[in-house]
Amino acid sequence: MKKISLSGIKPTGTPHLGNYLGMIRPALELAKDFQAFYFIADAHALNQIHNSDELERLTWEAAAAWLALGLDPEKITFFRQSDIPEVFELAVLLAASTSKGLLNRAHAYKATVEANLAKGRDPDDGVNMGIYTYPILMAADILLFGSHVVPVGEDQRQHVEIAADIAQAFNREYGEVLVIPEAVIREEAAVVPGIDGRKMSKGYGNVIPIFSPPEQLHARIMGIVTDSRPPEKPKNPEEDNLFGIYKHFATREETEAMRRKYLRGGFGYGEVKQALYEVLERTFAATRTRYEGYLLDRLSLDRVLIAGAEKARASCAPLMRKVREAVGFHVAGKTEEHRKV
Ligand code: ADP
Ligand code: TRP
Repeated sequence: MKKISLSGIKPTGTPHLGNYLGMIRPALELAKDFQAFYFIADAHALNQIHNSDELERLTWEAAAAWLALGLDPEKITFFRQSDIPEVFELAVLLAASTSKGLLNRAHAYKATVEANLAKGRDPDDGVNMGIYTYPILMAADILLFGSHVVPVGEDQRQHVEIAADIAQAFNREYGEVLVIPEAVIREEAAVVPGIDGRKMSKGYGNVIPIFSPPEQLHARIMGIVTDSRPPEKPKNPEEDNLFGIYKHFATREETEAMRRKYLRGGFGYGEVKQALYEVLERTFAATRTRYEGYLLDRLSLDRVLIAGAEKARASCAPLMRKVREAVGFHVAGKTEEHRKV
């Protein structure tokens, strides 16, 4: 039996190069050796997006992105989180074994509280319970399928660790029911920089979208912040976010040539931006056409997701039964068994 790889992406904005390098590409590579479950975490996105049309549109976009980037739904179980009621059921069971302190320490929540305090606001200003219990829902996603590995970017490491902690707490109480998951983080793409040098993130508005039309992509790249040292001075490529993005898409020879250029000095950032634009176009032009094609045929996209959800539900049924039984809930056939003894 192959081990299980699982990951999800929140449909909260257009997929970007950070998502691709940090999660989507590694996840697709892992799918060659693992049994893979990849999904669109629309219930997680619901904490931020309270507009049904928007949530639906962003979910289509995420689905089209995965497929255009090469996810084969015949090989990978690909689904929409909200089509799996077992996820929500498991989240409730796990909540009962999760200490509140664990969630108080979750980075995303803690960061919001600290930002509120810094502004002199109520610590929980703007925090809904979905954000607070976010790690429990994510633990349910992961544990429901017996996931061994979870490919994610660095920012999700703590969430996967919390899922492992929750699984351990549950197992301590009920026996070895849940698999303890582990995050898989690619060191070289753990934190892809955005156009302002901070982590590329939808929340920061500093992303380079994977599927922008060429003119927009070009404009975005021209907006990448670079340092202001004069062009003739040698520069350290490892400290430059332009190079930090370029190296992921250029060939090894191109990267080495660019590295030498930085170390020698005497070049302009405009030149590097143009080179970055060209490697991105080369990498994604055909993918973009596929993406647009998928978005024109939402019925087919929906069919893919529904078929994926059926497979996912069949896969998680045995574990869900085990968990229900472990805590003392009714499971089909159990009463008859009792009667026999
Ligand atoms: P965002 O931060 O833009 O909202 P998500 O939270 O939807 O992105 O992230 C989806 C996946 O992509 C996660 O596994 C996350 O760790 C990864 N990821 C997001 N941004 C980056 C980045 N800049 N570098 C590496 N991985 C990233
Ligand atoms: N929290 C993840 C993110 O923001 C998305 C996510 C939800 C996820 N459930 C998951 C990732 C389970 C991995 C496994 O990117």
